Amino acid sequence: MANIVLIGAQWGDEGKGKIIDVLSENVGWIVRFQGGNNAGHTVEVGGEKYVLHLMPSGILRPGKKCVIGNGVVVDVMALADEIEQLEARGVEVRGRLFVSDRAHLVLPYHRRIDEARERNRSQAERIGTTKRGIGPAYADKASRTGLRVCEMLRDDFEDRVRTRVEEVNRVLRALGADSLDAGRTAAEYCAAARRLEPYIADTVVMLNEAARRGEGILFEGAQGTMLDLDHGTYPYVTSSSATVGGACVGSGVAPGMIESVIGVIKAYTTRVGEGPFPTELADGIGERIREDGNEFGATTGRPRRCGWFDAVVARQAAMVNGIRAWALTKLDVLDQQDVLKICVAYEYRGRRLEYVPADAQVLAECRPVYESMPGWRTATGGMEKYDDLPDAARAYIKRLEELTGVPVGILSLGPRRRQTVILPAAGVG
Ligand code: GDP
Ligand code: IMO
Ligand code: MG
Repeated sequence: MANIVLIGAQWGDEGKGKIIDVLSENVGWIVRFQGGNNAGHTVEVGGEKYVLHLMPSGILRPGKKCVIGNGVVVDVMALADEIEQLEARGVEVRGRLFVSDRAHLVLPYHRRIDEARERNRSQAERIGTTKRGIGPAYADKASRTGLRVCEMLRDDFEDRVRTRVEEVNRVLRALGADSLDAGRTAAEYCAAARRLEPYIADTVVMLNEAARRGEGILFEGAQGTMLDLDHGTYPYVTSSSATVGGACVGSGVAPGMIESVIGVIKAYTTRVGEGPFPTELADGIGERIREDGNEFGATTGRPRRCGWFDAVVARQAAMVNGIRAWALTKLDVLDQQDVLKICVAYEYRGRRLEYVPADAQVLAECRPVYESMPGWRTATGGMEKYDDLPDAARAYIKRLEELTGVPVGILSLGPRRRQTVILPAAGVG
């Protein structure tokens, strides 16, 4: 079985969880390699809806092995709760979940710093983070002041957490935030850490051995290319590498082992949080898409900003990730639109741009160059074959393929497993 990386091509929430769930049937392992519980991946199975934050979306396929890789930042209290909630719903986690001993920890003070920094920013500077402590945890990792999963196994872990909390309390006070009770915080955190001990493993060796045995690994990206720390709309990004390179760094599996890269992309665009968004619709059409697509954050419940498909963003994502095929999702959400617009390029001070500019201020000034296409005004949610789609829907898909230079390999027409059409370009079966 092949090793495949699945990457979000826009600003997150493209439907990665659903596509991972569909593809995980064909692999042995599903791996999260970056981000943390800022992610919210929704999977619908048998009429039940699951929102996964740290847990790889493959957990809902019995027998599949799931890995939280070294590149993820792990809030052990959030993970312990997530495991408990899944087990309460009858999902077996023990023996199937492995947490990298090299992963960094998100501690309670990271959340407080995240909240305080957001509060202290002006409206223009605010990032609109999920307040899960992700940025501060990755900052500690880069500063070499982070704590890692392997350290949870040391006898003096609780003392070390307590000392760290005492140190960071000075930072919290300087930010105008409440300090933490060091003793209580350390005790609570360590209680959760003990619950996770059975899951800790050297996942780097484990994954490489599985790859050598040909068991097939699916790498589950979180966030999306435009939220990537290097390739996204900095500073309005998350703090990890959500692009393809992150899969290798964040799992310890070498690039030569990766056989394919699939980009998940919505038939329109959404963004949650602040930052430039050229095709955003601040009108009734945007509201209609939000309603029809149920575009509310899976982690924070915030309404998502909605807009037309942006081929500039898609082209950039295809380039930096080497995307072989798209998994095009939520086409059904556009079923009732009369006219669809596609942004084919940007106009910036009289110049035409085909790729995303580096500076968020420049991007904020970019005006989308639109092409219009007729809508299909037909319900597509129950269609099982590509040829069943109305002509106008097929024309829309074809135009997206032309504009991005990447074929559609998977078409998603609803949240459920069976609302999925697999095309030859997917290369998966
Ligand atoms: P992720 O973060 O990329 O996994 O995406 P989210 O789970 O945050 O958001 C995607 C939402 O769209 C979820 O509620 C999915 O159940 C839903 N969804 C996924 N694919 C489709 C689709 O093709 N059509 C519709 N209508 N909903 C979909
Ligand atoms: P999934 O995996 C959409 C956004 C936040 C904010 C920025 C930084 O479900 O697609 P952070 O808390 O990471 O420091 O916030 O990134 N963001 C997401 N937006 N989907 C996500 O995850 C996101 N994870 C973070 O809204 O703009
Ligand atoms: Mg999401």
